[in-house]
Amino acid sequence: MPDLERRFTIRANDFVNAGEVSLEIQSILKHIGFNPALIRRISVCAYESEMNVVMHGGDGEALLKVSPNSVTLVFTDQGKGIKDIELAFKPGYSTANLKHREMGFGAGMGLPNIKESADSIEIHSEEGHGTTLNIGFELEGDFG
Ligand SMILES: Nc1ncnc2c1ncn2[C@@H]1O[C@H](COP(=O)(O)OP(=O)(O)O)[C@@H](O)[C@H]1O
Ligand SMILES: [Mg+2]
Repeated sequence: MPDLERRFTIRANDFVNAGEVSLEIQSILKHIGFNPALIRRISVCAYESEMNVVMHGGDGEALLKVSPNSVTLVFTDQGKGIKDIELAFKPGYSTANLKHREMGFGAGMGLPNIKESADSIEIHSEEGHGTTLNIGFELEGDFG
């Protein structure tokens, strides 16, 4: 049984509220008292994943699970999915459109940064059926 489990809704193309879910996750982790370095790694993953759902995915949700030995983030969306996952993880690869780029997105570093910051990631995606990204962090005395 996880100590804590929280679900958040994410809306496609909602750039007004984009980023709010990651901020709330960050605030929960601070409240629990994890160390700043771990909170930073988790927040990077949460923000990049949330923005990917908003920009590239579809309506979806984030799930935060905190257990004695791990923190898990699961981002699920019902969007168009990813055709070539290996390509999507290539640094610099992005299908961001002009509107996204004008807002400063589209560096193609989100997925590579998630991979770098997490202890484990698992991605499932099918073209036309959405994407699930499971991101894990191991806890080893990460409080304070
Ligand atoms: N949830 C998603 N649904 C569909 N495609 C996605 C999703 N997340 C990422 N992608 C694809 O992977 C690419 C790379 O993502 P990322 O590394 O975060 O770079 P960026 O967001 O800057 O484009 C995106 O441009 C997009 O084509
Ligand atoms: Mg991205």
